Amino acid sequence: MYAQALNARDPAPVQAEDLERLAAFQARIDAEEKIEPNVWMPEQYRRTLIRQISQHAHSEIIGMQPEGNWVTRAPTLKRKAQLLAKIQDEAGHGLYLYSAAETLGVSREELYDQLLSGQAKYSSIFNYPTLTYADMGAIGWLVDGAAIMNQIPLCRCSYGPYARAMILICKEESFHQRQGYDIMIAMCHGTPAQRAMAQDALNRFWWPSLMMFGPHDTNSVHSELSMKWKIKRFTNDGLRQKFIDATVPQAQYLGLSIPDPNLRFNDGTSHWEHGPIDWDEFARVLAGDGPCNRQRMKHRRQAEADGAWVREAAAAYATKQRAAAERAA
Ligand SMILES: [Fe+2]
Ligand SMILES: [Fe+2]
Repeated sequence: MYAQALNARDPAPVQAEDLERLAAFQARIDAEEKIEPNVWMPEQYRRTLIRQISQHAHSEIIGMQPEGNWVTRAPTLKRKAQLLAKIQDEAGHGLYLYSAAETLGVSREELYDQLLSGQAKYSSIFNYPTLTYADMGAIGWLVDGAAIMNQIPLCRCSYGPYARAMILICKEESFHQRQGYDIMIAMCHGTPAQRAMAQDALNRFWWPSLMMFGPHDTNSVHSELSMKWKIKRFTNDGLRQKFIDATVPQAQYLGLSIPDPNLRFNDGTSHWEHGPIDWDEFARVLAGDGPCNRQRMKHRRQAEADGAWVREAAAAYATKQRAAAERAA
C-alpha cells in the first residue's frame, strides 16, 4: 500500500505564484505531459506530492511489521517463501518511493525523522494486529487488493518519477493480492477450524480495508486540487466503491460472508451498497490510538537504532574510498 488520503493540512500558507508559470504548468498537465523534477512547479504541488509519496513510502515500511509477525510461523516452506518475498517487495517499494520523494528536494533523513517523530502519517491499516495465519490471506487479498485500486490510477499521475515507480509497484502488488487470495482459498477448502479462521480474518480486516480509501469525498481536504493537478484521478468514494464491487463476489466464491448487515446489491446502479463506516475509529487510529500504533513505532525506532552502526560504517567506508580516489588522482 498504500497511499491513503489523510486529512493533514499544510502548516504554512503558500505564496502567490507567478500566474504565467502557473498557467503553463496547468497546460502541461491538461495535455497529459509528465511533470519532471527539473520543471517549474507550484510550491503546493511539490508539498502535496512530498506528503503523499512519503506517506506511501512510510506505509510500505511499517506495513512489513504485521506480516513479519508470521514469517517464522508460516505453515509450509512454500508459504514462508511467498511471505518473505512479499515482505521484501514492500521494503523495495518503500525505498523506491523514498527515492521518488527525494527528487522533490527533500532528503531521506528528513523523511525518516518525520516518521520517527510521529509528525508523518502512514496508512491506518497497519495499526491492526495479525492474530492468526489467516490474516496473511486477508491482508494480501483485502489490503493489497485495496492498494491496487488506489495505485493503478497513480501510474498515470502527473508527476513522472511517482508515476513510473507505481508501474513496478502495481505489478508486485498484484502478486501480493493473488498470494493472499490463494491462502484464503486453501483455508476455505480446509477444515471447519480453518474456515472459521478465514471468516474471522475477513471480519477483522473488512472495515479497516474500506477505511484505506480515506474519508468520504465531502470530508477530503486535498481531493479537489489533487484532481485538478492529476495527482489523483478518482475520488476516495469512487475507488472504495470499485473495491467493494470487485471484492464481494470474491468473498461469495470463498463462501465467506462480509461483516456488514446493510450490504445490498442495487439493481438500478449495479453497485454494492455498504453500511456506515466507523469514522471515529478511523480518526482514533490515525491520531495514534489504534491497537498497535505504539508497538509499530517502537519497533521502527528500535530498527533505526540497531541499524545506526551499518550507516556509520557505510559512511566511513565511502569517505575512505573518496580519499583514496583523490590521492590517486
Ligand atoms: Fe507495497
Ligand atoms: Fe503489497
